[in-house]
Amino acid sequence: MIDIRYGEIKPTLLAVDNDQVTLHLIDKILGAQVDITKKSKGCDALDYLARHSADLVLLDYNMQDMNGIEVLKCMKQRAEMKNIPVIILTADVDIELETEVFQSGAVDFIRKPFVPMAMQERVWRILQNEYLKKNLRQEAAHQMRLAEERLAASDRLFHQTILALAKTIDAKDKYTQGHSQRVADYVRRIAKIAGASPKKQQEIYCMGLLHDIGKIGVPSAIINKPTRLTDEEYELIKSHTTIGSDILKSIKEFPMLSIGARSHHERWDGKGYPDGLAGTDIPEEARMIAVADAYDAMTSRRSYRDIMPQERVRREVERGRGTQFDPHFADIMLTLIHEDTDFLMRSNS
Ligand SMILES: [Fe+2]
Repeated sequence: MIDIRYGEIKPTLLAVDNDQVTLHLIDKILGAQVDITKKSKGCDALDYLARHSADLVLLDYNMQDMNGIEVLKCMKQRAEMKNIPVIILTADVDIELETEVFQSGAVDFIRKPFVPMAMQERVWRILQNEYLKKNLRQEAAHQMRLAEERLAASDRLFHQTILALAKTIDAKDKYTQGHSQRVADYVRRIAKIAGASPKKQQEIYCMGLLHDIGKIGVPSAIINKPTRLTDEEYELIKSHTTIGSDILKSIKEFPMLSIGARSHHERWDGKGYPDGLAGTDIPEEARMIAVADAYDAMTSRRSYRDIMPQERVRREVERGRGTQFDPHFADIMLTLIHEDTDFLMRSNS
């Protein structure tokens, strides 16, 4: 018999038989390699298994209170013992019994009278199998945990990186500090109300964070110019959409980032830029960002004006509904404004 331990401890075996002589014999044949608990009744075996674990159960077929198959069927119905392998012990095996043994979920049967060597081999083979299966399950669970931890760490790194990028963008524009983070927050709220899944909401949040990344490629003097922009300067400002889209195109795993940067200044009526898309030709996420972006612009202080009163913001969103904005997302923004009775959404973002 091969001596494989279950780690540092011996495998445990529950032997169930009415006959004390048989139990003694089992002890003699297997006792050196396994820890044996002996029970002489099926119901005692079930009670024991409800409170203790066992690596293997040997069940006599012919018992007085419950036969071995009945005990096995009860075991299969109980979560705490249904996976314990069972060997049926029997003096006579005909085809019917053999079929019943396996159909009931036993892993094997051993004929009486026992042939010690064969019995040891059969028991040990099953224990080895179980040991390997258990190890494999533990290893798979361990690897799964590791993979999940790695994934969570890489997720955190990704979000911290884009948050840092968003701060870099916002640092360039002295009038719109925190703009990217606020737009990301608003657009996530809009997406949630629109019924987006949590995963989608998170994606849209990331798109909101980086929608203005192209401003990195526009001179600060123009971004921060307190007076009216010339046509040429306005064209340069507009180019932040295409610059942003080009920068983000390299993130192949997340193509929507680039789309958000490119299309967030498109208008529902087709009069936006850079592509003059209209209606549902504008990617949905960009339509959400457009409303959130406008809301933040109106609720932020500018060099030439103060924060707009909430009632005026509401009117402007209503006015842009179906012209500048997707009517559905404008309605969601109006709901958010309506619920924001103390005009705190901006300061809480
Ligand atoms: Fe923008």
